[in-house]
Amino acid sequence: MKGIILAGGHATRLRPLTKITSKQLLPVYNKPMIYYPIETLVNAGIQEILIIIAPEYAGHFLNLLGSGKEFGAKFTYEIQEEPRGLADAFIVGKHFIGRDNVTMILGDNIFDHDFSHEVQNFTSGGHVFAKKVPDPQRYGVVKFDENMKAVEVQEKPTEFLSEYAVTGIYVFDNRAVEFAENVRPSDRGEIEIPDLYRQYLERGELKVTVLDGMWEDAGTFDSLLRVNNLMAMKNGVEKETLFDSY
Ligand code: G1P
Repeated sequence: MKGIILAGGHATRLRPLTKITSKQLLPVYNKPMIYYPIETLVNAGIQEILIIIAPEYAGHFLNLLGSGKEFGAKFTYEIQEEPRGLADAFIVGKHFIGRDNVTMILGDNIFDHDFSHEVQNFTSGGHVFAKKVPDPQRYGVVKFDENMKAVEVQEKPTEFLSEYAVTGIYVFDNRAVEFAENVRPSDRGEIEIPDLYRQYLERGELKVTVLDGMWEDAGTFDSLLRVNNLMAMKNGVEKETLFDSY
């Protein structure tokens, strides 16, 4: 199993925070954001990791993360010239993936779940992870039937589909590369990730697990602030210290 962290993009939603740096280098309590997805992959037993970055701040990532030795991993880097959508990670990463299976995680997604079991026992198909959220229209959404079997997936549906967002970690077999190459750009000009894993769904090979633990996509001001506070509290900081001023 190989790992990919997608940390490209311009993060215009977080301007001016991202005017002179990359979103994935912003602090989340006591670490740069990208440390969290790195630790998620490494803790799941993945050591060979490709980090996909935008050209502007490539040097910053290299300075910060280096070879990966410090994390017990081996890092490879690829430049994504333009953000073309999440499914593009599998095209940019085609040679890195080679004939292996691959777990892709978004550089702004923070989990407290240990994915070792899912990663180590993966054999074939696709495995994605859903979470019940109050604002599903922000995400890729999965609809289940009465037996909790996934029946439909859509990126940022305009009409209500379900309350289950698909989180930003994806475990796929080698066909992910070919499936990514089949995806046509959406109206916003991106190759959307649900259009990739829908190809597993249509073949009856998509497993969807609902996560119990904490998940945040730190891509907005509010979620970034929330995840900073959450991580501080996980590190033993009292709520009063974070919220009460002198
Ligand atoms: C992306 C994906 C979406 C997914 C989300 C998870 O959205 O397109 O399917 O649910 O990440 O964080 P974005 O945050 O890029 O808008």
